[in-house]
Amino acid sequence: MVRVNPGVLNEAPEKAGWSYDGIVAYSKICTHVGCPVALYEQHTHHLLCPCHQSTFDLADHCKVVFGPAARPLPQLPIAVDAEGYLIAQSDFLEPVGPTFWDMRK
Ligand code: FES
Repeated sequence: MVRVNPGVLNEAPEKAGWSYDGIVAYSKICTHVGCPVALYEQHTHHLLCPCHQSTFDLADHCKVVFGPAARPLPQLPIAVDAEGYLIAQSDFLEPVGPTFWDMRK
């Protein structure tokens, strides 16, 4: 979960309303082979996986901009409830983890 300036987020129409005031939530499990994606670079909005340097663009739905990962990090749709708590709107809508875990491929 990361909070950025809401203006930097490129909201795709199909994912409108999945963030709240610049707060976004993505799976931390790299889609390459499952290492924890943990390094965030604020100036570029990139998330870096330390294992094989896959780099994901947080401002653009965590699309892969470098490295061996084949697909973006799955996003968890979030919202704020009536009491002001961040909540998940649903489960992840895409498989979480390495692509080889997705038996549909
Ligand atoms: S596990 Fe993340 S780049 Fe390989």
